Amino acid sequence: MTDRYAVIGNPIEQSKSPLIHTAFAQVTGQDIGYTKLLAPLGGFAQTVDAFRAAGGRGMNVTAPFKLDAFDYATDLAPSARMAGAVNAMKFDGDKVYAENFDGIGLVRDVVHNLGCPLQGQRVLILGAGGATRGALLPILAQGPAEVVIVNRTVTKAQELANLALEHQSGAVPVRGVGYGDIGQQNFDVVFNATSASMSSELPPLPDSVFDAGCLAYELAYGKGLTPFLKLALAANAHRLADGVGMLAEQAAEAFQWWRGVRPDTAAVIQKLTVPLV
Ligand code: ATR
Repeated sequence: MTDRYAVIGNPIEQSKSPLIHTAFAQVTGQDIGYTKLLAPLGGFAQTVDAFRAAGGRGMNVTAPFKLDAFDYATDLAPSARMAGAVNAMKFDGDKVYAENFDGIGLVRDVVHNLGCPLQGQRVLILGAGGATRGALLPILAQGPAEVVIVNRTVTKAQELANLALEHQSGAVPVRGVGYGDIGQQNFDVVFNATSASMSSELPPLPDSVFDAGCLAYELAYGKGLTPFLKLALAANAHRLADGVGMLAEQAAEAFQWWRGVRPDTAAVIQKLTVPLV
């Protein structure tokens, strides 16, 4: 029997998840159906209840429901707890297991697909919202030399840095700062985890942050050269990437969690890549 999965959001038309999971199912020979589910605002729980009652086995969760899913879950994985948000659920009777694979997907893309180990690297993360919360622990687990979180609202960056220090007992130095505090410091890897690119805005970042060998990584995907990537290019950053690989890798993690087999992501990444330059 075909097992049913879905991605839930509002809006949902833009989601690439059905394309990705259908491709994964084909290459792994898994008999699944994967659809888009539009839930009304305020109607997350009812929509998921109905999907489960009809035999649904699992879901991906996208905006604006990642916090609703956090509240809906009965069993939160550490990744979801740290992120404060859920992007994948698995249903088993009364149980709703919840994960957040965004951070692990990001790290897998950087380390495996782009071939840039984070160990010993100086890492700068722009933004202190949900995307950064999800990415922090998987980045720290790679053993970078240091992690600096920079945010418009400095207190949010500091709070997140303190939370990260608690979780990994201070093994990697983590600081939260404002854009005006960066000075001339430069970094090996710079992640843009702000939502600024959604509105074609640029965080007030000095272009001196990009070391000559730097990877500049935009977590948003499919937007071509965003203002952040343009800044990195003009500053001669060694390498530019957007979040298409992160998208594919977090999907592969969810697929493996649901189905017990990890699909190769190369074909999906190739299909979804929008050239940057
Ligand atoms: P997400 O879940 O995508 O991370 P979020 O939790 O709303 O979204 O967080 C958005 C992040 O982008 C925040 O860190 C925000 O900075 P503030 O905390 O100071 O609001 C950051 N951000 C959004 N627009 C920005 C801009 N134009 N310049 C700099 N930072 C921006």
